[in-house]
Amino acid sequence: MQKLFLIIISLMLVWSCQNNSEVYKTHKHLIADTAMVVSANPFASKIGVQIMKQGGNAIDALVATNFALAVVYPRAGNLGGGGFMIIRTPKGEATALDFRETAPAQAHKNLYLDSQGNVIPGLSRNGGLAVGVPGTVAGLYAAWQKYGRLKKWSDLLAPAIRLAEEGFPVSEAEAHRLNKYKKDFLKWNPTNKTFIKDHWLAGDYLVQPELAKTLKIIATKGPKGFYEGAVAQAIVDKVTKSGGIMKIEDLKNYCAKFREPIVVPYKDYQVISMPPPSSGGIALGQLLKIVSRYPLKKWGFHTYKTTHLMVEAEKRVYADRAKYLGDSDFYPVPIDSLLSEAYLTRRMADFRMDKATPSKAIFPGDFKLHKESFETTHISIVDPDKMAVSCTTTLNSNYGSKVIVDDYGFFLNNEMDDFSAKPGVPNQFGLIGAEANAIAPHKRMLSSMTPSIVTKNDHVFMVLGTPGGSTIITSVFQTILNVVDFDMNMYEAVQAKRFHHQFLPDYIMYEKKAFTPEVIKQLKQAGHHLKQVKSIGYVKAILLSNGHLEGAGDTRNQDDDVEGY
Ligand code: DON
Repeated sequence: MQKLFLIIISLMLVWSCQNNSEVYKTHKHLIADTAMVVSANPFASKIGVQIMKQGGNAIDALVATNFALAVVYPRAGNLGGGGFMIIRTPKGEATALDFRETAPAQAHKNLYLDSQGNVIPGLSRNGGLAVGVPGTVAGLYAAWQKYGRLKKWSDLLAPAIRLAEEGFPVSEAEAHRLNKYKKDFLKWNPTNKTFIKDHWLAGDYLVQPELAKTLKIIATKGPKGFYEGAVAQAIVDKVTKSGGIMKIEDLKNYCAKFREPIVVPYKDYQVISMPPPSSGGIALGQLLKIVSRYPLKKWGFHTYKTTHLMVEAEKRVYADRAKYLGDSDFYPVPIDSLLSEAYLTRRMADFRMDKATPSKAIFPGDFKLHKESFETTHISIVDPDKMAVSCTTTLNSNYGSKVIVDDYGFFLNNEMDDFSAKPGVPNQFGLIGAEANAIAPHKRMLSSMTPSIVTKNDHVFMVLGTPGGSTIITSVFQTILNVVDFDMNMYEAVQAKRFHHQFLPDYIMYEKKAFTPEVIKQLKQAGHHLKQVKSIGYVKAILLSNGHLEGAGDTRNQDDDVEGY
């Protein structure tokens, strides 16, 4: 009898795995002629494409894809988080949309400090106090209102509602993470039955009736259904119960903001990216401007000279980030100065080709990196009229603060950790900050998210972005160089090995096989410290060349998927 039972269980397991690999057949590389979506999940990418086939434009597709990710990619897709997007219309108008979370009204500079003035570990990362006021629903609605083509908002939520109601088979990667964080889920949400079970297997169905209910409310009432009424009250109740300070007014007052994007020329291209409160556009712009003065193409991909220059530029740019960058509505970020040629010349004045400048000589300090694994997610879309949108959104860590609004089925972010809790004390990405990124009521925490669009001769050339915390900026930087300077196609550029330096800690993080043994030896001889890491970034990108769209998902992320037609 027992044997028979085991055989049945094994057969069920095999079936569920086969079923899963069938469903999770992903495309990491695709060429198409008309329109394309690259996202972190095949269900979501397909929904985006479907919306465009029904006559929707890139923004309609983005909204539908994002709501779908909130269902099928709960570790990062979200209703309870925030993000940024860069939009470029067919006429060439470029806009940045900021739907970053804000600090609650009762937040203050010393929110995470004890009576001795020391940072209390974990307080900005887990539980209610880690939660910023979510921006996603307001942001998606604002984008659709200004740029969407489909008339009915509810049509954009319908596919996500179906997925939440009927359920879908979780991928191997999602099952793994749901199991990994079970203890944290239990801590903050002891009675939750939707996300907590004995053991998740790939192919198990995740059915989310509570989330379906919330999506239906948003479908009929728009953002008011989220920021006011029963859902808002449930958010406040859960945050309060979990030790937080968010109030109903915080939600009611939340506003997404359209901003002027950062636009930086690089060779024959214009790079359009995110202004503060993200550091992405400024840092990427500084890096591109610095390296444009050197013959990278001649030096070659990942040679000593190229790597050394990029690393030395990165150290200085991340030191600037720590000191000068924050929410520009609260702090006078010197955007023009940071991007001026004269400043960058001065900044690189002590650069030497044969020797690493220790970070201590640029700015003092040292610390250890936090071990939590991170998640964020990016969507790149081009529609039939060549309208393009690049959008990165996040809960910050995997499943954010791990706090679930149980009755409405979604996780809340832990974005408050992106503020500088105390000058010089690192956050979970090892990033430090100061006054510019200090906590203040209603302020937005500094981000590294770098959704970007590159144009050439006034036409969209590349749409790209990635998760990866502090490594987002350098992953986008390298992907652009790979295409522009090292003649890679989109797929090669995305899969190419990556490295990263963020000024502190003072070492080059690099992926296995990123460098030849000879280059590693040369880098060490010049005084660089190196640390091999498992992987850096999950870039999702689209290249427009010779009249075709070439989409690339990152093979580093099992579920990344390109769909197009
Ligand atoms: O806004 C930021 O920079 C971070 N909260 C992003 C987090 C992230 O990318 C985690 N993922 N891999």
